Amino acid sequence: MQFDILTLFPAMFAGPLTESILKRAVQAGTIAIRIHDIRAYATDRHHTADDAPYGGGAGMVMKAEPLAAAIRAVLNEVGAEGQPAPGSSQVVLMTPAGERFTQRMAHELAGYKRLVLVCGHYEGVDERVREALVDRELSIGDYVLTGGELAAMVVADAVARLVPGVIDAESTAEESHGGGLLEYPHYTRPAVWEGREVPAVLRAGHHAQVAQWRRHERLRRTLARRPDLLASAELSPADQAFLRSLGWQPGSTHELA
Ligand code: ADE
Repeated sequence: MQFDILTLFPAMFAGPLTESILKRAVQAGTIAIRIHDIRAYATDRHHTADDAPYGGGAGMVMKAEPLAAAIRAVLNEVGAEGQPAPGSSQVVLMTPAGERFTQRMAHELAGYKRLVLVCGHYEGVDERVREALVDRELSIGDYVLTGGELAAMVVADAVARLVPGVIDAESTAEESHGGGLLEYPHYTRPAVWEGREVPAVLRAGHHAQVAQWRRHERLRRTLARRPDLLASAELSPADQAFLRSLGWQPGSTHELA
C-alpha cells in the first residue's frame, strides 16, 4: 500500500514514519510512504501556498492552485503497477472539522491501494479544492492541533499496521477496539512484582478459563472507561449477562459519549 502525504512542513515527518515497525514495512516493500512538499507546486517566485481569506478575518487560507496541483500530480502518477485503477485511491484531508477517525475507518482505509493524506494548515484550505478533489475529511479527536501533520501521522500509522504483512494478524485480531471492546490487561514475568501478583487464572494454564477471564476483563474495562462503545460492540448473551451483573443497563444514557 502506498501513502502519499502532502504537507507544507515535510521535515516534520522524519522519525515517526521512519522508525520501528513502519521502517521495517517500508524496507520489506509492504508499504511505501512518500512525503510531498505542497510549496513545490506553487508556480510564483515565492512559492506562495496561502493567502488572506475572502470576506476578511484572522489567519490565512491554503490556496487552491498549489494544493490541487499537488493532489493531481500524486493521483496521476504512474506507479510500478501502471496507472492506478479508479477508486483505488482515497484523498483524505486532515482537519478538526472532519469526521472522527476510528479503528473501523482504519480497517476500511487499509483496503485502498493508495492513501493521499492532505495536511491542512492555517485557517483551512480553499473550499473549492475540498469540493473538487477530497474524498473525505478526518479529525483524530475533538481538539485543535497546529496543523494536520500529526493527525496524518496518526492515520498513516493506524492504517499501515493493518496492511497484511506489516504485523502478525493475531495482534490485530484481539486488540483494543477490535469487536468494539477495549483490550484485557497483560502480564509477563515475574509472577510477583513489588508485591503485586499476576492473576492466578493466567498462571494455571487452563485455556478456556483464561479466555473467559480475558473476555470478562474486556467487558469490565469497556463498561468502566468507554461505556459508549458497548452500544455498538458485538455482545453475546453471556457477555450481556455479565455486563448486567456489573450494573450495565442496555440503552441507558451512560452509553452516550
Ligand atoms: N488539524 C488540526 N487539528 C486536527 C485534528 N484534531 N484532527 C485532524 N486534523 C487536524
